[in-house]
Amino acid sequence: MLDGARKEDPARRALVVSDSVFSVDGDVAPLTGLAAACRAHGAALVVDDAHGLGVVGDGGRGAPYAAGLAGAPDVVVTATLSKSLGSQGGVVLGPARVIEHLVNTARTFIFDTGLNPAAAGAALASLRLLSREPERAARARTVAARLHARLTAAGLSAARPDASVVSVRAPGPEQAVRWAADCRAAGLVVGCFRPPSVPDGISRVRLTARADLTDQQVEEAADVIVGTAPAA
Ligand SMILES: Cc1ncc(COP(=O)(O)O)c(C=O)c1O
Repeated sequence: MLDGARKEDPARRALVVSDSVFSVDGDVAPLTGLAAACRAHGAALVVDDAHGLGVVGDGGRGAPYAAGLAGAPDVVVTATLSKSLGSQGGVVLGPARVIEHLVNTARTFIFDTGLNPAAAGAALASLRLLSREPERAARARTVAARLHARLTAAGLSAARPDASVVSVRAPGPEQAVRWAADCRAAGLVVGCFRPPSVPDGISRVRLTARADLTDQQVEEAADVIVGTAPAA
C-alpha cells in the first residue's frame, strides 16, 4: 500500500500513523516492522503511545522504546498524560525539527490555552514516581495477565493483553451496556465499547489493569466480571 502511494506521486510525503497499543483490544502494533517499512519507502512514522507509556517496556518507557525506536530521527510519538500518568493533556515527542514545526504551525497548539500548571506538575510527579519505582509498569502487566487468565478460564473471550487493557467480548451491544452497569452496581467500573465506537459484532467491556491493585482486589474484580457476565 505504501509502495503504491509513493509511486503514484513520489514528491508527496507519506506518513504512517498507528496506535502502539490499540485501545479496544489492547493488542500491540508491530512497531519494528512498521518502522522498517516506513524507512524502506521514505515515509515517516507517527505512533500514538497513549496506552503504552507507563506500562510497556522497561520501567514503562513505552512501546516505541521497547521497539528500539526511542530517539529515532524519523519517528514521532504522541502520548497522553491522562492514562498511566493520571493527569490531563498530551505531549508530542520527536526530532527537534518536527517539534519546532508544530510549535510554529499547529493551530490546535497555537490557538489553545497552554497546559495548566497543575496538570503538568501532576504528570511530572507521576513520571518521577515511575522512574523511582519502575516495577510499577511490570506490575500493571502482571495484573492484566492475571485478569485475562481468570476471565478466559471462566470461558469468557478476552484478547491476550500486551499492556494494561483487558477487553472482554460481549454477545451484543445491549448485553455489553447491561454488563457494564451490573459491574458498576457491584462496585467495579469498567468501560463499555459498542457501536458506533466499534463496528457491530465486537461489543466489549474493557478493564484497565492498575499497578496499585492488590492480588485480592484483582481476584474480586475478576469475580464480579465473571459473576455478572451475560449468557453467550
Ligand atoms: C489511543 C488513544 N489515544 C489518545 C487518547 C486521548 O487521550 P486524551 O484526550 O485523554 O489525552 C485516547 C483516550 O482514550 C486513546 O485511547
